[in-house]
Amino acid sequence: MPRFPSSTREVPATGGVPRHVAIIMDGNGRWATSRHLPRVAGHARGVDAVRRTVEACARAGVEYLTLFAFSSENWRRPADEVSVLMRLFITALEREVGKLSDNGIRLRVVGDTSRFEPRLQELIGQAEARTAANSRLTLTVAANYGGRWDLVQATRALLAARPELAAEPSRIAEDDIAAHLAMAWAPEPDLFIRTGGEQRISNFLLWQLAYTELYFTDTWWPDFDQAELERAFESFRARERRFGRTSAQLAAGAQA
Ligand code: FPP
Repeated sequence: MPRFPSSTREVPATGGVPRHVAIIMDGNGRWATSRHLPRVAGHARGVDAVRRTVEACARAGVEYLTLFAFSSENWRRPADEVSVLMRLFITALEREVGKLSDNGIRLRVVGDTSRFEPRLQELIGQAEARTAANSRLTLTVAANYGGRWDLVQATRALLAARPELAAEPSRIAEDDIAAHLAMAWAPEPDLFIRTGGEQRISNFLLWQLAYTELYFTDTWWPDFDQAELERAFESFRARERRFGRTSAQLAAGAQA
């Protein structure tokens, strides 16, 4: 399994385009309510925005796109809304996997999917297998995911793999935890985008967002389009990413 340098160790190459973009797609409900539509209509339009964003990121040369589709906390929503969201995931997987595959996109799902209905789990497995060899863009859907859940499962997995560490916890290093996170195979996000006006991380990739550039927009997710994405990229390009170093060190090309 390839391991990526942690952004806390090395200065990743930053050119124009972020290598890994992570998005909290917020505002579907408000988009619908503002049009006197049921909230679920906003989620349906949200799927169109997902399609547009995947295409725009692939065209721009983004290598990893990670979308927060359903958080561990979203089970608290009304049962009929949860059920419509599950239907939407199923339909999207049934309809879109061929197109993802044709476009060189690899699909991964991270989160505790064991609580999903069997048909959804089966489709997820099939879509991951069918797109596994693709390498143009990795689209990761975080579903029944929570950053705290991820840290707990990583700790459990580490101790299961190396039980001797329980007696010598001082030997546990950052890399040991990072290696067991659900997205251990991906570099940390360079750019985080949240639509819908809230300025929170909301239990998304807590570990991996440590040095990520954060971008917030008031635009509701169903209205998010290529122009919005380009605005986020522009903001990213304008920032100096120092990872704890000084500007002078960066100018001298420091990597240590
Ligand atoms: C947040 O808006 C959105 C969600 C909890 C669901 C996101 C799901 C999709 C965009 C649909 C399908 C996704 C894939 C990957 C196929 P909200 O309901 O919290 O909006 P609000 O804050 O305005 O109420």
